[in-house]
Amino acid sequence: MTEKKKLYIETYGCQMNFSDSQIVGSIMADHEFETTSEIAEADLIFVNTCSIRDHAEQRVRARLKEFNRYKKKKPGLIIGVLGCMAERLKEQLIEEEKMVDVIVGPDAYRDLPRLLNIAEGGQKAINVILSADETYADIDPVRMESNGISAFISIMRGCENFCSYCVVPYTRGKERSRDPETIVNEARSLFENGYREVTLLGQNVNSYKSDKGIDFPGLMNLVASIDPALRVRFATSHPKDLSDELLKVMAAHPNICRSIHLPVQSGSDAVLKRMNRKYTRDWYLGRIAAIKHYLPNCAISTDIIAGFCSETEEDHLETMQLMEQVGYDYAFMFKYSERPDTLAAKKYEDNIPEETKGRRLQEIIALQQKLSHKSNKADIGKTFEVLAESTSRKSANELAGRNSQNKVVVFERGEYKPGDYVQVKITSCTPATLKGVVVEGV
Ligand code: 5AD
Ligand code: SF4
Repeated sequence: MTEKKKLYIETYGCQMNFSDSQIVGSIMADHEFETTSEIAEADLIFVNTCSIRDHAEQRVRARLKEFNRYKKKKPGLIIGVLGCMAERLKEQLIEEEKMVDVIVGPDAYRDLPRLLNIAEGGQKAINVILSADETYADIDPVRMESNGISAFISIMRGCENFCSYCVVPYTRGKERSRDPETIVNEARSLFENGYREVTLLGQNVNSYKSDKGIDFPGLMNLVASIDPALRVRFATSHPKDLSDELLKVMAAHPNICRSIHLPVQSGSDAVLKRMNRKYTRDWYLGRIAAIKHYLPNCAISTDIIAGFCSETEEDHLETMQLMEQVGYDYAFMFKYSERPDTLAAKKYEDNIPEETKGRRLQEIIALQQKLSHKSNKADIGKTFEVLAESTSRKSANELAGRNSQNKVVVFERGEYKPGDYVQVKITSCTPATLKGVVVEGV
């Protein structure tokens, strides 16, 4: 038997990218490559990249320089750049980073074996064609580095919202939804194999619409009905598509997790307009009120951008005021980073000084830290069903898992193991974690 060749794959960016890397792992496994976590033994290195902020791209460029050292030691080694940076920069990336052999955009992974053949023949290979219908629906992802308990299922690809700051519509192309049957089958097979949680993924999941007329609430209903012991999550939603119908489906299924990520980006109407978010502050707050109405225990998290073009101090204060008003449980917070060729880059000046962006971001982070802590303190004394996931990082005697609200809960393991549902009463907290004790027979 000949030994299989080894693929090392490193992934940056969103969960969608991690899910794509599992698809790539599967395509390569069908072509005699097995994945390895040891870069030194790789015959092929792939880096699945993100373009969302300049910093993300700079990190990849630094990594590519490091990969080049391996190539010097092992001349046959092939280096491929996958994902959003490949799509954004195309041939330019080969000119700028000479060590790169293969460039593949997010819709061209089925072409990888052919591209590798070209690269093995000593030529540069590239495919960055975006597709109107590729969903990789028939590919069974190789679940690398999986804990065997929670898994991602990609349900739609692409984005057509064209938020003015965002590169995604250009790197991931048109929206398209995967056939619902293949999604339900994948979720069922994961459950049968011991998984207890699936996260339905897409750049904009709630604009899911299958050819068969099933929309996102309809799909959630199908997946949540597989088994009450299978938790269902989803990411990410655009506020414009968060319908009451979805909230009603969530309310009807206790196994759909009480956690909604609803990126607001800014609390100022003027900024939201320039961002092309297509909603106002009031309209967004109306969606928050609807969540609180249908799902009183639902955690709400968000994304915020500090220092967007022409953001005034007043705009910034409006964002902070909205954060307090909503009382977010968690937030991802960023400094605005201009991306070439986006609507904002063409239309508006990136005119907030770096120092001001940094200061505003710090203020937002400090406020969120306070809000997260407050939210966690309010949980002390409550009992949650926790899906145990792993041994706690701090102690082998403790397990860590998450409650329905997606908060990390740590507790003494007793007889429990990862994959178990455990009733835990919260006794203390930090801004990031809840700690509790197991309560039996609830
Ligand atoms: N600069 C800073 N943050 C950005 N995001 C998207 N584009 C940019 C950008 N150009 C943030 C948004 C989005 C999250 C995934 O990344 O908050 O919701
Ligand atoms: Fe990064 Fe966006 Fe591409 Fe995900 S879709 S990898 S966040 S640029």
